[in-house]
Amino acid sequence: MDQKAWTNAVLKMQHSYGAPISESDISSIGAYLSVVYGSAKADDPEIIDASKPPVSAPPSGEALDVQVLLTNNGCTGCHDINKKIVGPAFKSIAKKYKAETDAIKKLVASIQSGGSGKWGNMTMPPMNVNDKQAEALAVFILKQ
Ligand code: HEC
Repeated sequence: MDQKAWTNAVLKMQHSYGAPISESDISSIGAYLSVVYGSAKADDPEIIDASKPPVSAPPSGEALDVQVLLTNNGCTGCHDINKKIVGPAFKSIAKKYKAETDAIKKLVASIQSGGSGKWGNMTMPPMNVNDKQAEALAVFILKQ
């Protein structure tokens, strides 16, 4: 498949199957796949163009800086990326849920409602984060 076909395939993964890919990454992933698995060459001008990092818009209004959210909400007191503290390591959470299609939705619910019993006897209190913030956290955790 060529660059256009791969880019459309990525678009489909994102839109129809809910793959956690941001709009801005679609063209570069499509370009990458078409070079590695398709008919495109890495030095095609359109490939070079599509691979450029997007000019990132500054986050609007709300604090969606994940590191700030993790610190301000006390997540880092109970969670570490690599090792279990009170709660499971983010790496372990990612490993457990990565393959599930509704992983983001599940983690958003867990973050907002807290809970216990899935990882042991310790309880996670409900976290006071809005939907957007919980989603940003879930996406981040799943990338670990
Ligand atoms: C007081 C400690 C504590 C804090 C603070 C805390 N967690 Fe947890 N977290 C836990 C524990 C304990 C578990 C395991 C719960 C279980 O076994 O079901 C957990 C589980 C999770 C899970 C996995 C849920 C699942 O469905 O498997 C996610 C995701 C998570 N935490 C994210 C966060 C985020 C994001 C924050 C901050 C907004 C946060 N946690 C703050 C203790 C905490």
